[in-house]
Amino acid sequence: MNKANIKGKWALVTGASRGIGRQVSLGLADYGCNVVLHSRNLANTSALAEELRAKGVEVRQVHAELSDPAQVEAMLSSLLSEGPAIDILYNNAAIQIGYHPDWVKTPMDDLRKSFEVNVTALVRICFALIPGMVERGWGRIVNVTSGVKDQPEMTGYAVSKAAVDKFVLDTAPHLKDKGVLMNLMDPGWLRTDLGGPNAPGSVESVVPGALVPVLIDDGTVAVLFHAQDWAGKEI
Ligand SMILES: NC(=O)c1ccc[n+]([C@@H]2O[C@H](COP(=O)([O-])OP(=O)(O)OC[C@H]3O[C@@H](n4cnc5c(N)ncnc54)[C@H](OP(=O)(O)O)[C@@H]3O)[C@@H](O)[C@H]2O)c1
Repeated sequence: MNKANIKGKWALVTGASRGIGRQVSLGLADYGCNVVLHSRNLANTSALAEELRAKGVEVRQVHAELSDPAQVEAMLSSLLSEGPAIDILYNNAAIQIGYHPDWVKTPMDDLRKSFEVNVTALVRICFALIPGMVERGWGRIVNVTSGVKDQPEMTGYAVSKAAVDKFVLDTAPHLKDKGVLMNLMDPGWLRTDLGGPNAPGSVESVVPGALVPVLIDDGTVAVLFHAQDWAGKEI
């Protein structure tokens, strides 16, 4: 791992306003990484932006409802035309809609919405930012997945995360020799708005483990990192 590697680089963290994305943003800033904070509304990241600036890094804020392709394109085109160039992409934002005990009655709209936000937007953001990383010969992409299994009550969420896994497994090997390391991160079940109050882990426990796939410098790609493996440890 190379902690100096990310000092002065720029990261885009989607879903940075709260939960895991907020912790990842704070953790990146602690290593001197500049951060573009994404959420659906600039006001949602204003306080965090000030918190990060107080750590001495540069911060930008962007907004996009990820289920709306026009908003995703507007965010990406302003990033690509005005910068900053993104070296680290932390695709963290996701939705988990509903819990359906009678899962054969799951509304198909749940699947559509889950895929729009959790898969289509994630892939689009990757495809927009990968060429710049390849051109500069350096990049880190972390796509956040989930350990959810055996829960058909959350089919939309579960199958969308499986699609993210498949995307990374198929794509990452094609980037390895270009200096772009793409991997997966499972945060563990944590107390956030998405994870709910009954989750066993605190949201703070996601760091430092969630930063490991950003700090690696050994050519690792297409690997699933479990953030909880590093909970309470030094990296
Ligand atoms: N918490 C867990 O136990 C757990 C377990 C496994 C995996 N994960 C994964 O970890 C990641 C983060 O989860 P979390 O628990 O931190 O979630 P969270 O607390 O609900 O935060 C979600 C973040 O995503 C943004 N967001 C939500 N819907 C969006 C939309 N439609 N368009 C754009 N942005 C949207 C939110 O921004 P605004 O609302 O401010 O716009 C917020 O910053 C997700 O990929 C999740 O699947 C979480």
